[in-house]
Parts: sequence; structure tokens; C-alpha cells
Amino acid sequence: MCGIVGYIGSSEKKEILINGLKELEYRGYDSAGIAVLCSDELKTFRAVGKICNLENKCSDFLSKGFGVGIGHTRWATHGKPTETNAHPQIAEFSNIVHNGIIENYQEIKKDLEQKGHSFLSQTDTEVVVRLFEESLKHTEDGLEAFKQTIQSLKGAYAILLISVKYPGRIFYAKNGSPLVIGKGDDGVYFGSSDACVMGYVNKVVYLEDGDMGYMDVDSFESLKNIRSLEKNKAFAQKDGFRYFMEKEIYEQHKVLLETMMGRVNEEGVVLESIPEDFLEGINELTICACGTSYHAAMSGKYLLERIAKIRTNVLMASEFRYANPVMKKSELFIVISQSGETADTLEALKLAKENRLKTLAICNVDNSSIVRESDAVILTRAGIEKGVASTKAFATQMMVLWIFGVYIATQKNLLDKEGFQKQFKSMVRAIKATEVDPKLHERLKRLSKRYLHGHGFFFIGRDVFYPLALEGALKLKEISYLHAEGYPSGEMKHGPIALADSLLFTIALVPQHLLSEKIKSNVEELSARDSTICVISSQEVQAADDMVYINPAQDYMEEFFSMMVALQLLALEVAIKLGNDVDMPRNLAKSVTVE
Ligand code: F6R
Repeated sequence: MCGIVGYIGSSEKKEILINGLKELEYRGYDSAGIAVLCSDELKTFRAVGKICNLENKCSDFLSKGFGVGIGHTRWATHGKPTETNAHPQIAEFSNIVHNGIIENYQEIKKDLEQKGHSFLSQTDTEVVVRLFEESLKHTEDGLEAFKQTIQSLKGAYAILLISVKYPGRIFYAKNGSPLVIGKGDDGVYFGSSDACVMGYVNKVVYLEDGDMGYMDVDSFESLKNIRSLEKNKAFAQKDGFRYFMEKEIYEQHKVLLETMMGRVNEEGVVLESIPEDFLEGINELTICACGTSYHAAMSGKYLLERIAKIRTNVLMASEFRYANPVMKKSELFIVISQSGETADTLEALKLAKENRLKTLAICNVDNSSIVRESDAVILTRAGIEKGVASTKAFATQMMVLWIFGVYIATQKNLLDKEGFQKQFKSMVRAIKATEVDPKLHERLKRLSKRYLHGHGFFFIGRDVFYPLALEGALKLKEISYLHAEGYPSGEMKHGPIALADSLLFTIALVPQHLLSEKIKSNVEELSARDSTICVISSQEVQAADDMVYINPAQDYMEEFFSMMVALQLLALEVAIKLGNDVDMPRNLAKSVTVE
């Protein structure tokens, strides 16, 4: 999704802006641009495609001396990904960058056209910069003109605006899209997330909805809620792996330990972020999420109902919002989100709050919109996830749901000491099972070349392994662009089996410790229809054409986490063989801040 950066100071602005944009590349984009205002000269550069195209365009440009600059990566919503539609959007003497969607832009545009403005782009953003300049016809006060502009907007936005009339200032506004301001030794920085100001600033402010104003080089200290930022930038680098996604698959066993740390030990579960009486009056859970986070919710339902004996509903956020859902006060509304900025999930959360439900966020990004909006939070602690296809975030979401299930079970006295110990030991083994076995990776590398050309994939499993099958299919389609669907294996004969033939590849999840025989029969049904079958299991399955062996396990959750890694690696290796950009797959964005 779009990304924003900004800078006020005397360092080389072009470099800072472009480096900041590179940090946001992982969110997905189709054009990029920067504008620099230095010595009363405003220069704008924009390019379609990757940031290197933008770098080529401004290779001869230097921006020494004091000045301001803004930059943007655009993921097209209104208007095609062309240079004219790229940001910064341009008016007579001002430039703007914007994330989000201005819902009433048509009305404003019409009004401005009647007043003599003509528009260059098809974007909703251009109306904002032109409206600002129109407002300046009635007041000399730049802040007043900006305020009036922002007050006329409906929709979601994070905005940075610079103007030749007010050199040295960046006007900013936030509503519904994330925006961060930071202060470093050499100036003031802006970004859509702290990832792009990390390493430059030591103090940061996460703006709230409704915040707006302007910054000059001296005004940072006047902001409220200044926090220190001590994150280590090296953490976000690739560490010698080919792709961020690969690195993130390999680090799952480490981040899962972080997820558990201080929360579960041999003695019990402590969730400090959950107030003591939080579950009072709660007898049902509703989990709402999108994409991979939704799959975690689906698997979580099986765990929560099995371990904590609590009825759990799982809903897709985009469907929930407009369905006039019936909500009960006795239900805890849980949202799961890696980014904490997914528009549908955020709006679902707001709806639940309007209906006075208690809310809990399971989220990877502290201070994100979803975290700030929720009554309580359990952070997943996966660290920055840069690969667009989510891997370690899913693993940690699953672990949090499991921990939460055990937490509820202990609160309800459903687990005796032995029962708790069993869960604890199983968690520890599950984490160990995510350590990538080089032999497994090698096997999948070799096998992947046999799975490049069919007419599609079925991923099948039962119980917790059904949502895992959905997730395996999603991983594959996201980065390989091959058609893949996940199914509960028992559903095959109710329709999907009609597609079975030798060019239909079936990836079957066959655990040893849960419904093993039932899944094997489903595999045999597919094999009898000549589907090419790859089984992921610790035991040989006769009907399989190919076997991917995971290590023998003591219980089904250990198998779940092992199979998760195998599925992630399979998708990775197929996509690499097909020559795709694994970390930035086509048409996708890391943080989906529009509905
Ligand atoms: C898939 C993926 C997406 C996200 C979805 C929700 O690999 O990453 O399906 O899971 O867009 O995003 P979050 O979890 O940030 O709310």
C-alpha cells in the first residue's frame, strides 16, 4: 500500500527520501516520486515502476543546504499507475503526498473546476493540493488554509504538503492512515511507519486521527506523546538470505520464543496486558481478521474450543462490516492483524466498539491503529515482517491464540497441573519444530521443479490442518501466481474432486496424531482419480506420488508447525523457480489500508 516519507533539514534530501521509500517498498507500490524545496526552488521527480526508475530520473539532482522534501510510493487506487498520477501531486506552487482515499473528491473537484482550476491527474489527491491553493486566495495564513482544506475532506488520509509560499514547513494531517514524525540529530523526519525513520531518529510521535498542523525544524518538541525509538535497523536486513521471506521463515523458531517469553513457563500463563477481570461476563469469542490472519483465526477456533471449551466464531472482516451483524455483550471481539493497519479489520473493530463489545487485538505492530483502538492487546512479537507474503507473523499469531486458549482454560479451571504441563511441553516442541531442517529445504528445492506446470493445486487437510491448507494455498498463489485452493479433505467428494486428473496437484497434510486414517482415505479417493499427490507427513502414505517427510512428532500441534514450515518453503521454492519477485509479488501490498 502507499508509503509516505518527509524530511526537514540540511542533509542531502534526495538521498534521505529515497532511502526512506526503499524501507517502505515491501508494502507494495507501482510508482514513486519525491519533491524537494530548497532555496525557493521546488523540484518534483516521479517515475512508474520500481524506485530505481525514480533514482535514474533524479540522478543529476543534488539538494544541498537547508530545505524540505516529501516522497511517496503509490499503489494505484484512483487512476492508472502513470507518471502523472504518481505522487507528489502538483498544483501551482505546492506539492502533496497522500495515503488513503478521499471519498468526496469528485464534489470538491467539480467545485474547484467551476472556480477555474484545471486538473492534470485522475487522482483524488490532486484536489487536496488545489483546494489548499484555493484557500490561500482568502487568507495569508498557511495553517488556516491547510486547516480549512483538511476540514473539507471525507475519507482516510495521511498527508504531507509543501509549498513555495511557506519554505521550511511541512504541513501534515492524519485520519485513518498511519503517520509518524521523528526527530534526529540532523532534522525532522516523517514516515508511514517507524521502519523508514529508524536509524535516523531517536524520538518519535505516532500521530492520532485528527492530528494536523505543520512542522518546521524547531517545532518537534511541541508535539504531544513523544517516545524514544531505539530499534535496531540491522534487524530488518536480509542476513544473507535470498529473500526477506526466506529469512523470515528461518527465524520463526526465534520469534516464537519471543512470543512465549514472560507469558508461559512451567508454572503457568501470565498475560500482563490483559486486565484481571477482562474475561468477566464473557462466554463467547468472535475473531475477525483478513487473509493470513483470518486463517490463523480459523485454526485458533479449533484450539480455543478444544482447550478452553469456549464457543468461538470466526469472521472475515470485509464481510462482517456490512452484514448488520448481531453482537452480544457476552462476546469478546478479537481482531488479528500483522500490520495493525488493515482498513477492514480496523473498521470491524470500531463497529464492535460502537456496539460496546469488549475488544482484544492480537497484533504485531505496537502503536498501530488497531492496537491503539483496542481495549487490550497481545503483541505477537514477530519483529518487522518485510516479505509481503506473511510467514512468521502467522506462526506467532497461532502461538498467541494457543497461549490465549490455555490462559482461558486455566482461568476456568479446566486444566489441572498435568494438563497445563502437557500444553506447555507441546508449545516448546512446536517451536523447535519450526527450526528449518536443511534436508527438508533441500528436498523441497528439488521437488518444486516438478510442480510448476499443472492446471492447479488442491491443498487439503482436516481440523486445524484445514485452515493450514488454506494458508498453504494462499502462500503459493501469492508468490507463484499459480492457481491453488485449500479444502477440508472431507469436502472433496462434494464437488471439487470433479477437477481431479494427473495435472491437478494435491498437497495433502497427513498428520499422525489427528484424524490420520480419515485424511488418508480422502487422499486415496483423489489418487483413484489420478490426481498427482504430494503428501506432507512423518509417515509414508501409500497413495502418494511424492512424500515430503517432516520429523516424527509427539502431538498434532507439533505436526502443525512443522507442516507450516514445509508449506512456506514449498511456495518459496516454486516462486523462485518461476523467476518471481518473492518479496514483492505483483498486485499485492503489505499493509492494506484501503477497504
Ligand atoms: C498474506 C497476507 C495477507 C494479510 C492480510 C491481513 O500473506 O499477508 O493476506 O494477512 O492482508 O493483513 P494484516 O494481518 O496486516 O491485517
